[in-house]
Amino acid sequence: MTASDSSFQVDSLIAEDIDAYLDQHQHKSLMRFITCGSVDDGKSTLIGRLLYDSKMIFEDQLAALESDSKKVGTQGEEIDFALLVDGLAAEREQGITIDVAYRFFTTEKRKFIVADTPGHEQYTRNMVTGASTADLAVILVDARKGVLVQTRRHSYLVHLLGIKHVVLAVNKMDLVDYDQATFDAIVEDYAAFAKEVGIEKFTAIPISGFKGDNITAAPSDSTPWYSGPALIDHLETVDLANNAAQERSFRMPVQWVNRPNLDFRGFAGLITSGTIKPGAPVRIVPAGKTSTVKTISTFDGDLDEAVAGQSVTITLNDEVDCSRGDVISAAGDPPEASDQFESTIVWMDEAAMKPGRGYWLKLGSQMVTATVQPPKYEVDVNSFEHLAAKTLELNSIGVAEITTDRPVTFESYGSSRQLGGFILIDKFTNATVGAGMLHFSLRRAQNVHWQPTTITRDDHAILKNQKPRVLWFTGLSGSGKSTIANEVEKQLALMNRHTFLLDGDNVRHGLNKDLGFTETDRIENIRRIGEVAKLMADAGLIVLTAFISPFRAERRMVRDMLPDGEFIEIFVDTPLEVAEQRDVKGLYKKARSGELKNFTGIDSPYEAPESAQITVNTVDMTPVEAAEYVISQILPLK
Ligand code: ADX
Repeated sequence: MTASDSSFQVDSLIAEDIDAYLDQHQHKSLMRFITCGSVDDGKSTLIGRLLYDSKMIFEDQLAALESDSKKVGTQGEEIDFALLVDGLAAEREQGITIDVAYRFFTTEKRKFIVADTPGHEQYTRNMVTGASTADLAVILVDARKGVLVQTRRHSYLVHLLGIKHVVLAVNKMDLVDYDQATFDAIVEDYAAFAKEVGIEKFTAIPISGFKGDNITAAPSDSTPWYSGPALIDHLETVDLANNAAQERSFRMPVQWVNRPNLDFRGFAGLITSGTIKPGAPVRIVPAGKTSTVKTISTFDGDLDEAVAGQSVTITLNDEVDCSRGDVISAAGDPPEASDQFESTIVWMDEAAMKPGRGYWLKLGSQMVTATVQPPKYEVDVNSFEHLAAKTLELNSIGVAEITTDRPVTFESYGSSRQLGGFILIDKFTNATVGAGMLHFSLRRAQNVHWQPTTITRDDHAILKNQKPRVLWFTGLSGSGKSTIANEVEKQLALMNRHTFLLDGDNVRHGLNKDLGFTETDRIENIRRIGEVAKLMADAGLIVLTAFISPFRAERRMVRDMLPDGEFIEIFVDTPLEVAEQRDVKGLYKKARSGELKNFTGIDSPYEAPESAQITVNTVDMTPVEAAEYVISQILPLK
């Protein structure tokens, strides 16, 4: 039966028995797939063909198309195929460059969401976004051109993102006279290469998106030599049950806790692997507490068993702590938790990755702060060569180590997309800047335990009769940070306070003498100073720091490392012109002449604080006045 026949049946069912229709519709399985290829490969035509032949275009699209032309009818009526394709191609050309266009269509057997992403290399991030949730990928090849560099890149990404089902659609067969030898040669070519990337099996189909061959019915009259399925038949029948996932140990990341009354506490989430029954022993990770399952419920009632892929609400027989982000797992085989990983990262932001900077890492319902090390290597997505890289630029893919501020419960991406896939988010803009796949935990931190000490940080502070603080001076080179910080320290000493001043130029002679002034080095500079300042505050000291510290993200990172209220940001707000005119060390002159590179304010940015606790203006105040003002703002000192 072709899809056109089936949509006719569905239509008559709508008329006769709307409940039966809705019921049938609701229980159809959903498949997400991605089409890889360029417009030149006939991608818009193919997608148009799928939508057209299934005659079930998502209503929005119909409405949009309708406004374009009267020729386009509503569901069931004649839709002009050429017009539909033009519409899709035009949408693409209008530059939906960042987003992925998701299109919805349905046949009698299945519902489909197709992620339509542009094929060029500059859209790698779009393809990754579309592919990360796809069950299947249709890799389009132009029969006249065969396997191209972009086919290799698309296949690599498809495999990298763990898509299990691959269709090699050899398109434009009409333009090679439906020649079997041409098709066979392309398939052979692709098979050799697929093996190299790790794609073990794929289904090759000779098609013409334009003429409609082997889309809904196979073999078409033009390809009598082809004995495989038509594209839609294949999409409708591919087995989506992830048997491998069901065979693994039980895991369910908790998405939310459902507590309608005091007697009911249900943990809702998607089962990512394994099976579960009432009575089964479970362990809550990372806390490690155990209990047994009391009930498993869904919208349709309670279940005797649930399997990977189902969304359920579980209740337990014991009152154990369990909240969003925790993973309920098989008691005897819980997943690991770690704070250091190796991972593959796809960079998706215009601004390159900054090694050492703190980003939000979101893995399922877990959210932690993560820093990425300089990549071990970058992968050339066309040749798969490993290249040396200091960072990752937009659309590049690399392997790097990641450190998180708290343990993350995870599995390798290879065994679980849900527990091994993550995104990185910029803490200020909230933009998704990267997507990643965890490989394995680096066990470095595992045997290093935090050593509890007898004399606590409170004891240190009490002995010194003061409240520890970090007075963080930030501002341009020559703004007066060191001078004012030095004056503040002098006045605090006169008040019998225990202090320590960390100064940029001095620290760069010792602890940080290996660091220069690139963005990466400046981030690492501040990270180390932050850690040292924190230890000194733990020792009960009032710490003063005088570093340019040009980036908001790192100043924020240090703030987050310290107890609330201990980090005080002091903006030494001297305009560039003034600092440059003073030019105490002659560095601005050198920077202007090009002799000194990456100089803050000249050819390296300074991100002024948006809400510093204290701002001092060195144009109107002398250093002594500025210091007095700072102290007046931090009283009392106990
Ligand atoms: S930060 O940007 O990493 O915070 P830091 O405060 O440690 O900088 O060091 C700044 C000092 O290094 C400046 O006061 C100046 O004396 C010196 N310096 C040398 N090269 C540069 C440069 N390219 N940019 C800024 N400061 C520089």
